Amino acid sequence: MGSALCSCPFRVYSADRVKGTMEESYTFVATCLFGLERLVREEIESLGYRHLSTMDGRVEFSGDLSAIARCSLWLRCAERLYLSLGSFPARSFTELFDGTETLPWERWIGKNDAFPVKGHSVKSRLASVPDCQSIIKKAVVRRLSRTYGISWFPEEGTRFQIVFFLLNDTVTLMIDTSGIPLHKRGYRPAAGIAPLRETLACAMVKLSRPREDVLLWDPFCGSGTIPVEAALLMTQTAPGLLRSFAAEDYPWIPGSVWQDARAEARDIACPDTSFEAYASDIDGEMVRIAEENIRRAGMQNHVRTFRRDALSIETGGRRGTIVCNPPYGERMMTPEEVRSLYRKMGAHFLSLDRWQIYVISSDETFEKDFGRKADKVRKLYNGMIPCGFFQYFKRPSGTFMKQDDAEDSARERQTS
Ligand SMILES: C[S@@+](CC[C@H](N)C(=O)[O-])C[C@H]1O[C@@H](n2cnc3c(N)ncnc32)[C@H](O)[C@@H]1O
Repeated sequence: MGSALCSCPFRVYSADRVKGTMEESYTFVATCLFGLERLVREEIESLGYRHLSTMDGRVEFSGDLSAIARCSLWLRCAERLYLSLGSFPARSFTELFDGTETLPWERWIGKNDAFPVKGHSVKSRLASVPDCQSIIKKAVVRRLSRTYGISWFPEEGTRFQIVFFLLNDTVTLMIDTSGIPLHKRGYRPAAGIAPLRETLACAMVKLSRPREDVLLWDPFCGSGTIPVEAALLMTQTAPGLLRSFAAEDYPWIPGSVWQDARAEARDIACPDTSFEAYASDIDGEMVRIAEENIRRAGMQNHVRTFRRDALSIETGGRRGTIVCNPPYGERMMTPEEVRSLYRKMGAHFLSLDRWQIYVISSDETFEKDFGRKADKVRKLYNGMIPCGFFQYFKRPSGTFMKQDDAEDSARERQTS
């Protein structure tokens, strides 16, 4: 941070970067579903960026501008990526206006560009989102008017979505770099009636610790999200390779940065892995949809699809892991039908020799119906629906759960 800003109450990231280069460091925020923060942090750190802080549904980190391209392509569990411009106290509209006007908006937004404003307010005096939107818009217009010497903005150029987040009377102002949320990978135009978000499906796969030599089977595959995400992960395929991002239109990120990031992603992809997943469903139409999505994702060499009742799956003598999202009774089946299904699932799945089982469900009595207490339960959110992720580690008799797993399990049971 430039010395001129040291006494400034604002945490301003870019005021001294008007002549910024690609090497300078910026602050970013990756948002995610509640419960996935640790996974997102790990993804960010594995890309080489520095973690700054984590709070519910948000991970803040620093990196150069090329982080926008690399994180957009690679973050598997994040919903959106924002460039954070500054954060300051906003207990009144005056503070909100003055703080917003202080930021160097002209560094990012040209005189013909569009700059709509949206955001959220949580536990703050400025609780009216429409009022905050209008104050921020006016402050940005005032700043850009002074810089460009115009008072009317056509807003016909590149679209920069400004997003504010007010928490405990402190506002953070950001520019959205994703456009369409990151969970929309581009391989799933067709989905069933209760599809999982791709980001959540990927998180479930990661938590199941997939291995190249262990079959991963989703016997309730619906549109195939879990097996596709497993195959993308295990082939080291960047999940964003099939789509574009809002920031590809931003003139301050040279096109070569995106080309380099895509080239890097193609180099890293490892399609030769022997990893295999099965995607099966009782509904033949869902199997057909899953097959199309798998082909669109380019994962047809790693995922086999077929129609099968989940209650009749067999190990075929292989080592395996089941990762699945059976009906919850929210959008599919009645609660009685769901409970009966869980009872039959428990009886059948727990008889599969040494297979590990991972099930997401919003049903609070899941373990009782399934017939066994899970070794570990993690609280996850499927959109707004709070769910348990029930994990059964099948161990040879006489061995014990690893200590850290046992501690995590106890802690998560307390917090969930
Ligand atoms: C909640 S959806 C799965 C959604 C999927 N995860 C996705 O992202 O599209 C549940 C699926 O279970 C299937 N199903 C219900 N009962 C089944 C059974 N006994 N055997 C196999 N599939 C079943 C339904 O056809 C449905 O596609």
